Amino acid sequence: MTGNSSNTNTSPVDVVIMAAGKGTRMKSKLPKVLHQLAGRTLVQHVVDTATALSARQVTVITGHGADEVENALNTSTSCSGQLVLNFVRQEPQLGTGHAVQQTVPVLRDDGIVVVLSGDVPLTQADTLQQLIAACAGNQLALLTIDFADPSGYGRIVRVGDAVQAIVEQKDATNEQRRITEVYSGIMAVPAAQLKTWLARLDNKNAQGEYYLTDIVKFAVADGVPVVAHKIADACQVAGVNSPVQLAELERAYQHRLARQLMEQGVRLADPARLDVRGSLQCAQDVSIDVNCVFEGQVTLGEGVRVGANCVISNATIAAGAVIHPFTHIEGGKPGSKDAVEVGAGALIGPFARLRPGTKLGAEVHIGNFVEVKNSTLAKGAKANHLAYLGDATVGERVNYGAGSITANYDGAFKHRTIIEADVHIGSNCVLIAPVTIGAGGTVGGGSTLTKDTAPLALTVARGRQISIPNWKRPSK
Ligand code: UD1
Ligand code: CA
Repeated sequence: MTGNSSNTNTSPVDVVIMAAGKGTRMKSKLPKVLHQLAGRTLVQHVVDTATALSARQVTVITGHGADEVENALNTSTSCSGQLVLNFVRQEPQLGTGHAVQQTVPVLRDDGIVVVLSGDVPLTQADTLQQLIAACAGNQLALLTIDFADPSGYGRIVRVGDAVQAIVEQKDATNEQRRITEVYSGIMAVPAAQLKTWLARLDNKNAQGEYYLTDIVKFAVADGVPVVAHKIADACQVAGVNSPVQLAELERAYQHRLARQLMEQGVRLADPARLDVRGSLQCAQDVSIDVNCVFEGQVTLGEGVRVGANCVISNATIAAGAVIHPFTHIEGGKPGSKDAVEVGAGALIGPFARLRPGTKLGAEVHIGNFVEVKNSTLAKGAKANHLAYLGDATVGERVNYGAGSITANYDGAFKHRTIIEADVHIGSNCVLIAPVTIGAGGTVGGGSTLTKDTAPLALTVARGRQISIPNWKRPSK
């Protein structure tokens, strides 16, 4: 690695993200950079990395699927506030140099421009910080890497140690093609100089494209030092061109994240069988069995155990709770009333389903094939088997019998069911909302309730049982 990382840089950073390319090899209608990796679009990863660099502005160059890409980024970044996000369009796409030329009107002269690609999602912010330090506001810094098979990439041509040029595969001599150090597609460059060099580009090369990489020649000619910051981690510069590459980078990302979790003390039954598509915060002594998927924002409190094959999105699970296998927890927007909360020491599943707006108190039990939606269950309430609770408020210690349901929807409106503390609902009851079951009451199995019940009352609302002794069935 060469470079001048001792030079502390104070210039503002302006990020340019190239995202105009078509992505033919994805064989998809969706623009390439809108494919998802770990629950975020590829280009969103790059924008988030720019945010981590405290970039002053981010300019995304769009072309193929420009409207879709711009809408997606506007929607996903509108909540994060401070970042200035610009779009410039490149139509037609005449090469990477032509792409960056489109950003000239929005680039300020005092910045360091960091050029990234919308399809290279896993570059780490600290790597880019080092590249920016190498640029130091007055040098051209290239992120490079050695590849055993460098074919297809631009080669770093040096004379002695000094970088002289980047030569594209199709323009390279046989001798140059043997160079294994390649340009990653990422550079940090002083804005004012970048502008003068962009103005000098031509397309007289094997591909008839305007190559951004030609600015290296101009830097050398102008006496501006060109430094290569070489890294070893190929994932950080790997682009996504095909579904196979997308899946490979997804695994690389998940592997990195699983390691981080284990380093914090989280016990993963198998780090290769964990998928986090968002953020997963874990307190001490959390254990997670195989094949679990976490989406959005999930928080697991101290000692939480998650069984195999659970899918958990946007939920806060308090200390000591156990999520048994095959449980699906689907919270709504993080931080909203629809996020799911599971109280301390609660036991959920196996095969439980918690939908948006479920709030469970401490020591609640939700058993197999129980669905809960937009409902609050207070401490110690239990619904252990085959039941539905929708739009319900359930008091402490309530026991909700097998097969019982809240009929919360009349075809037009949703209504609430209130089950006060210490109520016992028998099996196979239908509670037709709106309805309130008074505290301490008991509802006989098989009842269909349409009216409120008084506290402590036993309510039975079903056909009375009759028996005809020695009854003979009809016969032929
Ligand atoms: C480029 C580099 C090459 C480097 C390689 C690393 C040039 C000329 N060559 O290769 O040295 O080794 O990246 O992957 O820069 N794009 C546009 N508009 C265009 C062309 C491309 O926005 O007109 C975008 C693409 O969508 C992509 C990025 O720029 O995100 C890089 O383009 P790509 O064609 O993959 O790179 P190469 O030109 O092959
Ligand atoms: Ca190309």
